[in-house]
Amino acid sequence: MIRTLLLSALVAGALSCGLPTNLPQLSRVVGGEEATPNSWPWQVSLQYSSNGQWRHTCGGSLVANNWVLTAAHCISSSRTYRVLLGRHSLSTEEPGSLAVKVSKAVIHEDWNASKLSNGNDIALLKLASSVSLTDQIQLACLPPAGTILANNYPCYVTGWGRLQTNGALPDVLQQGLLLVVDYATCSSPSWWGSSVKTNMVCAGGDGVISSCNGDSGGPLNCQAADGRWQVHGVVSFGSLGCNYYHKPSVFTRVSNYIDWIQKVIANN
Ligand SMILES: *[C@@H]1O[C@H](CO)[C@@H](O)[C@H](O)[C@H]1NC(C)=O
Repeated sequence: MIRTLLLSALVAGALSCGLPTNLPQLSRVVGGEEATPNSWPWQVSLQYSSNGQWRHTCGGSLVANNWVLTAAHCISSSRTYRVLLGRHSLSTEEPGSLAVKVSKAVIHEDWNASKLSNGNDIALLKLASSVSLTDQIQLACLPPAGTILANNYPCYVTGWGRLQTNGALPDVLQQGLLLVVDYATCSSPSWWGSSVKTNMVCAGGDGVISSCNGDSGGPLNCQAADGRWQVHGVVSFGSLGCNYYHKPSVFTRVSNYIDWIQKVIANN
């Protein structure tokens, strides 16, 4: 009986991820574009408190009702964080959006801020309360452990990051098409060389399609054959400048951390 319940809970969980009510518009606009509102409903804005105000600092993805996936380098132990969910415009108090405090941050044990090129730039944030899923707030799917995307697989990076090097921060959520660059190519000397490891995913870097928008901690969203969106990457580095030839954005490869994610959620 318990087994059946557990099984149906898992199946229900799997069914309720990665399928936005408001479908993203999948165009091939160079340089990024405004997303259709609430079409990436697992995207969150991670914010910290500064002089009584909340400031956007990173993106993140809702992966369980009370857990957000982000980058380790987004988290500073001295700060107080919250996440905004269900938002399109950061400056507008949109109906149906939620602000929830972060009660605990679990940073990967092998993360070392002075060794970014070792990877493990991944963290899970526990929310002070579980959120209810709505058309505006939904869970991302995670890829099966070990999944490696083929070279040129199309994915979308999303976030409130800059659109151009040193450009203004956009107020509404942006999306940008990025093509996956496989490890053999990305780690070759004229690309990222040894700064890229097998625990990372590269995408972009053809010098034409922007690898600039999106921001740290946010998702690399890739659609699986069944139509569901899976978060294959967490924006880690290389995305602050835009459109550098052979310098794609580098993401933490989520499929390498499925066991870690499941353990952290089960043990906290
Ligand atoms: C992180 O890397 C630096 C530089 O190699 C090293 O000195 C330091 O001990 C490392 N920190 C941890 C916690 O492993």
